[in-house]
Amino acid sequence: MSAQAKDILLSPALQALQPLRTIDLDEVMAIENVAYSHPWTRGNFIDSLAAGYVGFVLRDGQGRLCGYFLAMQVIDEMHLLNITVAPDLQGQGLARRMLDALAVLARARDCFQIWLEVRVSNERARRLYEAYGFVQSGLRRGYYPCADGREDALLMTLRLTGGSP
Ligand SMILES: CC(C)(COP(=O)(O)OP(=O)(O)OC[C@H]1O[C@@H](n2cnc3c(N)ncnc32)[C@H](O)[C@@H]1OP(=O)(O)O)[C@@H](O)C(=O)NCCC(=O)NCCS
Repeated sequence: MSAQAKDILLSPALQALQPLRTIDLDEVMAIENVAYSHPWTRGNFIDSLAAGYVGFVLRDGQGRLCGYFLAMQVIDEMHLLNITVAPDLQGQGLARRMLDALAVLARARDCFQIWLEVRVSNERARRLYEAYGFVQSGLRRGYYPCADGREDALLMTLRLTGGSP
């Protein structure tokens, strides 16, 4: 990690962001299972950690785990795989704060963009990403399972300044 990324992750504004560890997974799963209709399994998180993906948890002053994200770097792109905020803490800017941290990390690792898939029906997440500057860059038909079959995913991309496209 670059000195710049370290400085920002340790700054007072982001001091509650900590690397995601296996020991966090009970708290992570408690949120994951209520936040999604089709949650990740504990095994998905364990595999992601074992693969060395970028993962962070956000804790409040009392140590409560409020949210988390996981991303996979592929050469000079960062693929955001999971970003979640505890349901009772949503709408307070916590996801935006995690996106800020991911953008700092991605730039520090010379990534030129962050991209993700989001369910077409996930209006809250789509609004978050659009407000943050992500733009739709593709559509994956039937990408996600849903209650009545399969659901499309939007591919959304955030270009990072200072990187090499
Ligand atoms: C999507 C999610 C991560 C957003 O987290 P959050 O902490 O509530 O988001 P923020 O408070 O940082 O909000 C940022 C933007 O999201 C949108 N947003 C947040 N809460 C919203 C709500 N209740 N209704 C509509 N839009 C909302 C707004 O555009 C907001 O921007 P603004 O504050 O400038 O108006 C959260 O709702 C969540 O964990 N959902 C379940 C898991 C999920 O769907 N993850 C994304 C998978 S692709």
